Amino acid sequence: MGVRTVVVLAVLLGVTGSLGVTLGPETTWNTDVTAHPNSVPETVEEMGQKQELPEEKVEEEVMATGKLNPNHYPAQRAAKVVQHYLNAQYGSPYRLFGLQKVHSGDAEDVADSGRKYQLEISVHEIISNAVQKCSAEVFFPRGETPLSAQVQVSCEELLSINTTAQEEALYQQYKTNQTLQSAQKLPDSYGHIAADMKPLWHLGIMASSHVMLNESTEETLYNMAQVANITQLETENDQLQFDAHILLHEMVSQEIIHWKLLFTWSPAEGTKVLQMEKLPHCHDWEKPPSTD
Ligand SMILES: *[C@@H]1O[C@H](CO)[C@@H](O)[C@H](O)[C@H]1NC(C)=O
Ligand SMILES: *[C@@H]1O[C@H](CO)[C@@H](O)[C@H](O)[C@H]1NC(C)=O
Ligand SMILES: *[C@@H]1O[C@H](CO)[C@@H](O)[C@H](O)[C@H]1NC(C)=O
Ligand SMILES: *[C@@H]1O[C@H](CO)[C@@H](O)[C@H](O)[C@H]1NC(C)=O
Repeated sequence: MGVRTVVVLAVLLGVTGSLGVTLGPETTWNTDVTAHPNSVPETVEEMGQKQELPEEKVEEEVMATGKLNPNHYPAQRAAKVVQHYLNAQYGSPYRLFGLQKVHSGDAEDVADSGRKYQLEISVHEIISNAVQKCSAEVFFPRGETPLSAQVQVSCEELLSINTTAQEEALYQQYKTNQTLQSAQKLPDSYGHIAADMKPLWHLGIMASSHVMLNESTEETLYNMAQVANITQLETENDQLQFDAHILLHEMVSQEIIHWKLLFTWSPAEGTKVLQMEKLPHCHDWEKPPSTD
């Protein structure tokens, strides 16, 4: 079992690791944190280094208060939540955001209610290749029932990139096509995504960002790994609807987490997740049956 888990993980990490190599202008999507390889591992080799990081150190950094080292986990994790927020709220098949750099960060306890991070970050819009410095505030509520982080961010220039015409064209294409759209393995094992599948990959990222935003805590660092499959469903109303199976990479625990999502998209409404279900024991159901 142990060996098998390692193998599955290695294969999946291979997928994410190769993303940056082959995606051209979208490289930043998965390499945005590699500028700080010591603090936020991305490649397989760096994952190996990370395992040597003593647990106490991580725990200690979680509670870091005051001025933060922008390259270390606490600031990077909080900043990553801003990326998920931007993609969930303002993403489009033609406008997606990546965290490029954390310039500065501050953390403070807010009475008994939670912890607040003030961040200065650079955000990269990966399709137009535009970069902007943004100020953000991330609040992680504390309580018996864990609530999602609350994010405020000002990134006016990036958010006003106008993709209306392209979105409308895609919407019409998907809406009127006799064949419902579907795709598997975005990207594939070589890190490749066919050009006509890019919009589906981007829709998968947008929907996944809702999950990553909702699941993020001060102790997590989520990255999109793969859209295992995505299928357009027939709808009566003006929202396009999709069923998707996605793989998220939680980099602190080094886990690949599977989710099943049902979501809608339209140019006017953006993405809305109708159902999200975390799939248990992915390593177990990926192993071939009865090989023992
Ligand atoms: C975006 O572009 C479309 C035309 O492609 C235009 O009709 C619309 O007014 C623009 N929106 C903004 C906010 O500039
Ligand atoms: C309709 O969808 C199919 C399958 O994705 C695609 O091959 C075809 O080019 C699309 N047709 C139009 C007119 O967009
Ligand atoms: C976010 O996660 C909570 C559990 O932590 C869940 O109750 C809630 O439904 C999720 N939000 C959405 C939009 O699904
Ligand atoms: C989607 O991908 C998952 C994971 O690879 C797989 O288990 C599932 O059967 C696939 N579903 C469809 C409809 O292809």
